[in-house]
Amino acid sequence: MKGIILAGGAGTRLHPITISVSKQLLPVGDKPMVYYPLSTLMLAGVRDVLIISMPHDLEGFRRLFGDGSQLGMRIDYAAQDRPNGLAEAFVIGADHVGDDDAALVLGDNIFHGHHFYDLLQDAVRDVDGCVLFGYPVEDPERYGIGETDDRGRLIALEEKPARPRSNLAITGLYFYDNDVVDIAKNLRPSARGELEITDVNRRYLAQGRAKLIDLGRGFAWLDAGTPESLLQAGQYVRTLEERQGVRIACVEEIALRMGFIDAESCHRLGEKLASADYGKYVMSVAREFGGSAAGRSAG
Ligand code: G1P
Repeated sequence: MKGIILAGGAGTRLHPITISVSKQLLPVGDKPMVYYPLSTLMLAGVRDVLIISMPHDLEGFRRLFGDGSQLGMRIDYAAQDRPNGLAEAFVIGADHVGDDDAALVLGDNIFHGHHFYDLLQDAVRDVDGCVLFGYPVEDPERYGIGETDDRGRLIALEEKPARPRSNLAITGLYFYDNDVVDIAKNLRPSARGELEITDVNRRYLAQGRAKLIDLGRGFAWLDAGTPESLLQAGQYVRTLEERQGVRIACVEEIALRMGFIDAESCHRLGEKLASADYGKYVMSVAREFGGSAAGRSAG
């Protein structure tokens, strides 16, 4: 499966902060926002990722991740010149996806919860059609919304309805079979002039091939598109991290736990960031896994 992180958009709701910096590079806790969606893809086992952003922001992402090999991944970059809609990711990323399945995650979507790894592993197994994730929200008119029947099966999808028929938001994480590339290429822009991901999902729904997984209320799904939600996301992450002494979305740790890199390489990544607590954490995790540093600290 190939992954795409869509980190485009002008981030106007965060102006003036995002005039000169990409929203998805702003800090959430002590790491850039894009670490969170990247972690989501990694936990799903995706190692080949395309990051799509505005042309002038690409360099920042490149400086952060390079070619991804330090994480045992392959990371490529592509430009979205204008905010033409989420589904354009599959037009821009058609070559990247090739004839594989694809996962799309929005660069400002933060997922955190118990068993997320298991849930993702289940979702990526034999994707036939699309897999969407629902989450109950207070303000459904801001999102793509799903309507379900009494057995929890998806029956309708609407993008930002003025009068939502449910409070079940469709989150910014989507798994598709390879048909998504053709579906996206044949879409017409919506009334607001965008290639809507909801129209892609509706196509699958009409074929009876759209599966919905309800993340439920015991899970955290946050976006960070406004000053308040950015602050809330940071506080949420830091509260849990400081309480438990672990880090959420530490990509080096995930690369190690997923077997993308070994303990030695992980420790080296931590050393490069050693003046920050983040780097010290990466080194301590590497030591737990018995890198050479384990010997050094014992000796
Ligand atoms: C987009 C999608 C919407 C989805 C949301 C999740 O909206 O169009 O269906 O619910 O992401 O974050 P946007 O935030 O781009 O307005």
